[in-house]
Amino acid sequence: MIASKVMAQAGQVDFLVMGAGVAGLRAAVELADHGEVLVVTKESVAESNTHYAQGGIAVAMEGRQDVALHLEDTINAGDGLVYGPAAEALVAEGPPRVAELMEWGAQFDREGGRLLRTREGAHSLPRILHANGDATGAEISRALVAFARAHKGIQFAEWTTVTGFAVADGRVMGADLLDRDGTQQRIGARAVLIAAGGAGQVYSDTTNPTVATGDGIALAAQAGAELADMEFYQFHPTALSLPGAPRFLLSEALRGEGAFLRNEAGERFMERYHALLELAPRDVVARAITREGMGTRPGEARPVFLDMRHVRGMDLRQRFPGISAVLARYGLDLQRDLIPVRPAAHYLMGGVRSDLGGRTSLRGLYAAGEAACTGVHGANRLASNSLLEGLVFGARAAQSMLADALPVVAVDALQVAMEPFAADEQARLEQILERLQHAMWSYAGLLREDSTLRGGLCEQAACAAEVAGMRRQGSVTRRLAEADALCRVARAILQAALARTESRGGHFRMDWPDRDDARFRKHSVISGDGLVTFEEW
Ligand code: SIN
Repeated sequence: MIASKVMAQAGQVDFLVMGAGVAGLRAAVELADHGEVLVVTKESVAESNTHYAQGGIAVAMEGRQDVALHLEDTINAGDGLVYGPAAEALVAEGPPRVAELMEWGAQFDREGGRLLRTREGAHSLPRILHANGDATGAEISRALVAFARAHKGIQFAEWTTVTGFAVADGRVMGADLLDRDGTQQRIGARAVLIAAGGAGQVYSDTTNPTVATGDGIALAAQAGAELADMEFYQFHPTALSLPGAPRFLLSEALRGEGAFLRNEAGERFMERYHALLELAPRDVVARAITREGMGTRPGEARPVFLDMRHVRGMDLRQRFPGISAVLARYGLDLQRDLIPVRPAAHYLMGGVRSDLGGRTSLRGLYAAGEAACTGVHGANRLASNSLLEGLVFGARAAQSMLADALPVVAVDALQVAMEPFAADEQARLEQILERLQHAMWSYAGLLREDSTLRGGLCEQAACAAEVAGMRRQGSVTRRLAEADALCRVARAILQAALARTESRGGHFRMDWPDRDDARFRKHSVISGDGLVTFEEW
């Protein structure tokens, strides 16, 4: 039975929040004084993309001029596609949201009482607050979880997967939840918020944790909601590149504190790519590393390195304790060694199309944070704007859920005990997923073209058919639901990437290498029936 007394009693809550990252928790806190809130999360509340964010939270705390500069940097990084009103809301409402978070207990790094700030790519000045050196997301998550847990209006259903939304007449009225014992139960809600984060697991190489399988985005699409800008995936330039090691994130703050990028010949190659060198926008740096890492023969790879050996006047182990500890496991030290890096999927700029109040195209369904697409990041997110996005748009979505005051609609009761998969079925599912992830990396990664994207669609269709077959054979499990979500998200990325015959931000087409404002200064929208169109916002 799903661990929640409200659900057990009534099968109904006022507000259901899918995801316990920064956006979901910030929304839950806003909602809690006005009704029963259930926060549903697939693992423990500590396991979210938010938790793994290292570098920091970008925020302009020094008044109007500072806010205006933050807006300018956000717009410039977004490569012509940032939706202005969304970015204005982000930078203007960011400072009070961060101040409030500090009042709730979040501790950022200080020196002599003064907040420390670092710089990252495409920022015109140091404005990024950080916590415990390189564990900013973990600190924000800790503070928000503690604050939310102290609120009696908020209940958590941990280790619980949302497997579908209850929809009737275009209104979302609740969700189906699957607990870790295999019981599926339908819970009604006046409003449902998708704050379930991104989908890095759609690629074989990702900085994201295993929970990032795009569930919210996929379920929204399945229910008929519009998606937007799905072709824009941000590849973080510097993930650890060691055989057999996970693609551990090596924060952009390393470059903010002076790290250079070097190729196999020891050359500081960013000089050939962008005037801002290592602090160029992320998409530019990631593509430069990819090009430098290509050998002359197909499939040949050359190493690319982060180099901090020249950095003086800073104890790097103290400034980056988490990163240093992980590197030490592989015998590497920031002060002494060249660190091998390569790009990895990091953040989805697209998602469930949402207005500035998180409203999606379906009544009763809202979205915030990485799962949403308000257009705030355009084609390429500015570094460290994502935690701020979660705070600002999490609060905004909650305010819309309250303002819309949708009535309670009774949902049909559903409670089913699911059969777990046999070991061989689980193994088969993992194989299908690996095939999908590798296909997405090869065909819809940093460098794309028509033929690769079409190849990706064929692979995706084959994987999706196999996953659907497994669903027909019996019960849904968490992993099967995730596989289904990843297939749906992959298809949306491939479709939108095929339709955008230009290059912009995180989307680079080798066959259409130029930005084409005349045709494509527009957002891609995938309708409920799967059609891709382009719209000016
Ligand atoms: C990083 O620390 O480089 C990640 C921050 C972000 O995703 O903006």
